[in-house]
Amino acid sequence: MSTAWFSKALLPWYWEHQRPLPWRQNADPYHIWLSEVILQQTRVDQGTAYWHRFTERYPDVQSLAKAPEEEVLRLWQGLGYYSRARNLRTAAQQVIELHQGRFPPSYPALKALKGVGEYTAAAIGSIAFGLPEPVVDGNVYRVLARVFGIATPIDSTAGKKEFRELAAKLMDKSQPGDHNQAVMELGALVCTPKSPRCGECPLARRCLALRTDSIGALPVKAKRTSVRERYFNYLHVVDKNSLFLRKREGKDIWQGLFELPLIESTRALKGDRFAEVVRREFGSGWTIGAQHGPIKHVLSHQIIHARFWEVKRPKEFKVPADWIMVPLVELDRYALPRLIDRYLREGHR
Ligand code: ADE
Repeated sequence: MSTAWFSKALLPWYWEHQRPLPWRQNADPYHIWLSEVILQQTRVDQGTAYWHRFTERYPDVQSLAKAPEEEVLRLWQGLGYYSRARNLRTAAQQVIELHQGRFPPSYPALKALKGVGEYTAAAIGSIAFGLPEPVVDGNVYRVLARVFGIATPIDSTAGKKEFRELAAKLMDKSQPGDHNQAVMELGALVCTPKSPRCGECPLARRCLALRTDSIGALPVKAKRTSVRERYFNYLHVVDKNSLFLRKREGKDIWQGLFELPLIESTRALKGDRFAEVVRREFGSGWTIGAQHGPIKHVLSHQIIHARFWEVKRPKEFKVPADWIMVPLVELDRYALPRLIDRYLREGHR
């Protein structure tokens, strides 16, 4: 069956109702790439502010490629999943070194850039270069599952294949960029997860989920993502004008960001237990002062239960090599996870 009705109904709606987003002003692949990577981390309203920060600091791919990693992380601060920020800079360098400073107008070449997966390659390819590559993101899954009444789980292999093939079949090859953006925009503005505005939907007449009253049941997810609970005990080593920070390394959250010295535990630690653990880890003689928290910090696959402890170190304490003493007035130079930034901003300096 022909599927031309889909784009035919959707595109005029998009042209009338699309949000006037700054990266839609022209088809600059650098601007579009930045927006797509940022929007994988946050919603459009907050994402737009970050997009302006990045394009003002780095007006082109050359300036981003040359930027120090610390500075890029600092600009990214608050968006989470910091490997995306590191990849951003690496991909900019690849564009310079491998493609003479211009984003390549080919899907495989885009996908070969660091941090650019199927979704981002299809988004840049279609929006900036008019390549007929279908994008499939959360919005697209929702719109297609509802309009076509598909109950295959979107997180199953079969589901991914089915939705991808359908998205490819629906693609309006004469205007791939607008077509892709129209589906995403409909998912963002009308076909929302909760309380969709079916009365305003250009596809309502064709929508199987609406006809069968199954809007609330679609899309289907097979597994609930398991969430790991972690307990972070931060040492705020109190000094008049400075505090200690430590850089997070290794394959874990917040790689490359700075935090207070940390003791992670498998369960929540109350005062006495905490004092004991500090003694075991850093020797005796510590004074344990006020405790702040617990603060629940929710990430996509982890829940961090954080407590901050004001402590005084004993004179004989030998400061570990990876702790750095930072004057309070210089704190702004360090990229901090939002959890730490908030704590310090709330007057605990
Ligand atoms: N979400 C992420 N990218 C988008 C785009 N280009 N248009 C609408 N919503 C989006």
